[in-house]
Amino acid sequence: MMNLRIPTAGTPYNFADIFACIKGILSPKSKIHNFEEEIKKYLKVRNLLLVNSGTTACFLLLKLFKRYRKNSIQDEVIIPAYTAPSLLLPIEKAGLKGVLIDIDIKTFNMDVSKLNNAISDKTLAIMPIHMFGIPCETESLNKIIKDNIFIIEDAASSLGSKINNKHTGTIAPFGFYSLNRGKNISTFTGGILTWKNEKYTEILKKFRDELPELSKKQKRQMALKFIALTIAVRPIGYTLLNFLISRFKYTELHTDFDSFQYTSIQAAIGINLWKRVNSLSKKRIVNGKKLIAIFRNIDGIILPELKQEYNVAFNQFPILIEDLKQCENLEKELLKNGIETSHLYEKSLDEIFPYLKKDDSNKFKSANYLAKHLLLIPPHAQINNKSINKIHTCVKNIF
Ligand SMILES: Cc1ncc(COP(=O)(O)O)c(C=O)c1O
Repeated sequence: MMNLRIPTAGTPYNFADIFACIKGILSPKSKIHNFEEEIKKYLKVRNLLLVNSGTTACFLLLKLFKRYRKNSIQDEVIIPAYTAPSLLLPIEKAGLKGVLIDIDIKTFNMDVSKLNNAISDKTLAIMPIHMFGIPCETESLNKIIKDNIFIIEDAASSLGSKINNKHTGTIAPFGFYSLNRGKNISTFTGGILTWKNEKYTEILKKFRDELPELSKKQKRQMALKFIALTIAVRPIGYTLLNFLISRFKYTELHTDFDSFQYTSIQAAIGINLWKRVNSLSKKRIVNGKKLIAIFRNIDGIILPELKQEYNVAFNQFPILIEDLKQCENLEKELLKNGIETSHLYEKSLDEIFPYLKKDDSNKFKSANYLAKHLLLIPPHAQINNKSINKIHTCVKNIF
């Protein structure tokens, strides 16, 4: 029998999603507003807009900060040294500069204790990023950061994760999410921006309305690509079409990004998907707990420390493996058993963009280590008990 391969990421779409997509081609623009209202209820927020990507959502917020900054010398955005390299694009397109701080090897997220050293008169914004779906400490930042600095949560990969029952992305005054392929919930592409203070609502809506709209032809093409995606993320489709799918995976660094309005097709898919948003998140939470039980207390494996008040809808389940040979062996053993893993970004941002290093000191030691030793295990809803048992056996064979 053919050994099926489970992809590293993927929302398990069903026929109703495909039907919603086809119906969405004829839906009016008001569908987008309806989907925004649906997400508002879920996230318990008052202000929110949908755009074409997490990158655009971030860009519009940075544009807002620039307009409302207290001092024109404020042009720096603090981000952790291990994250999506594409995040530099909206920062630089907004005419701002990225400033890195190391990650904390215990949490795998930004080392907030290093913030004081990084903050200067030039700091415009701080971006705690909830990497892999793991919440980054944010509440304390709201209390200690002066109000001339904007705090913006990057919850691109953490839709469904909570701190003290509050959704990540809704704790700081500003936040954004991604609905791109591979994220916790995907409407093919998409981004959500959210903010607390009503005084920004009008200007952010203006920014959104100024974005170009896709043509009818582009919308139809998107619908077709979405239908192809629904097949490609299923193990049977993924296995049979692997030779084709691997060609569509991002392997090169992006040098620019497109910004346009969200579409009613995506909104129609989203509204249908949102009927299962809680069960999809729950699967990630439960699978995460099962993976913790498998990888806990193994010599040579480091897991992220999670606080009791965190509810983690893992986007990917991250482990650090000290011995790189063992890491390779585990990766191969899992693949032999149909479980695909990933290293995500193989370098930290200071290594990819040396101009972000201010001096030669090894300031980003933890981010460098994480980039090299990271292995990501899929925790998504297509990982069932059989897959969890396979992962357990593979781990026992290697460690
Ligand atoms: C942490 C993080 N922030 C932002 C983004 C950008 O989101 P999008 O792909 O929707 O533009 C990503 C995407 O991979 C990400 O992982």
